Amino acid sequence: MALDAKRAGILEWMQIPRWPVSDERERLLIDEVLAGRQWGGFHEFVTRFETKFAAYQHCAHGVSAANGTVTLEMLFAALGVGPGDEVIVPAISFISTATAVSRVGGVPVFVDIEPYSFNMDPEQVEAAISPRTKAICAVHFGGPLANMDRLLEIGVRQQFPVVEDAAHAQGSEWNGKRAGSLGVCSSFSFQNGKVLTAGEGGMVLTNDAALAAELRSMANQGRRPGASHFHHFTLGTNLRLTALQAAVLLVGLDRLDEQIERRTRNASLLLDSLREVEGIRWQQVDSRVTRNSWYLLLGRIDEQRFGMSRDAFHQAMQAAGVPCTPFYPHTLYENPLYRDGVSPCRVLPCPNAEACIRDAFWMPHYLLLGDEELMLQVSGAIRQGVAA
Ligand SMILES: Cc1ncc(COP(=O)(O)O)c(C=O)c1O
Repeated sequence: MALDAKRAGILEWMQIPRWPVSDERERLLIDEVLAGRQWGGFHEFVTRFETKFAAYQHCAHGVSAANGTVTLEMLFAALGVGPGDEVIVPAISFISTATAVSRVGGVPVFVDIEPYSFNMDPEQVEAAISPRTKAICAVHFGGPLANMDRLLEIGVRQQFPVVEDAAHAQGSEWNGKRAGSLGVCSSFSFQNGKVLTAGEGGMVLTNDAALAAELRSMANQGRRPGASHFHHFTLGTNLRLTALQAAVLLVGLDRLDEQIERRTRNASLLLDSLREVEGIRWQQVDSRVTRNSWYLLLGRIDEQRFGMSRDAFHQAMQAAGVPCTPFYPHTLYENPLYRDGVSPCRVLPCPNAEACIRDAFWMPHYLLLGDEELMLQVSGAIRQGVAA
């Protein structure tokens, strides 16, 4: 109880920034939509956002959709992943990375992550290749890109596409190239917790004009540009983003650079202040990651050196009012869906992924949107947690 009282003091004065954010600019654009007769996906704002976001991520084409799960399903379907085809995915990600493969009839092949980057290990990708491999799906976990040089080299050598699940990586870069522009195509999410959000939303990006046309038709009832509204050429569906979402995203994108700069400054302030704290290994970011969205602030606890388990650390952060999640409860393949054979998969040994389930945690991007004072308070809370 004495400990709780001590932490209650921190809670009182800690100002955690709210997320999502909006101001008069969103309201003006939403009003503009509401004043018109088209609130849906055929509004000019949707095209405007697709063009603007694709250019922001250094891509030629953007096809928006309802969320970052269906965008993955779209891209696997467009690449021709079908029954029995294997797609190599990391064992650590949100479930959509794997279910998108399964839902088009493919088989996710789960490989290990590197121990501290939290991204898929290219050596394990090599080990997972089989005659049925159809694609590799890299996930840029928490913001920093997976080792795209190695993954693209494998893709070129083996002649299969590398795609990017860039749900966490709006604005992130690899050697100056933005996430989503390196693979054959890529998927983004604008779900409520993401660094660019309209509550829900997603987009596929590609530099391949023919692939973009196919994706657009798929998300828009199999229509083709120039043809009449009631002509349907392929087996499509309706996955369109609405004009109201596009209005919110257009304004949000204008804020993104400033937010990334703020998070970058705050992350180095916070991590510098914790340098001598033993037993927390923060996410290792490759020097080729020239820009990081800082979607998640990720770390792993070495219980021996830290003097506290990951779960005790999480509880201490909760008591102090610092938002913190004790990682995923299991690897993707340990979800009942795959563990119990509801949907087929193949699993390579994943000791790093399984260790992260036990000892990793993350803090959300909006924590890093606070001021310097908050960073010092969070640093103090972490130290106090250690000292407790
Ligand atoms: C890595 C990753 N991929 C895909 C998704 C799915 O995005 P959405 O929630 O927009 O369907 C998420 C969402 O959290 C994610 O974290």
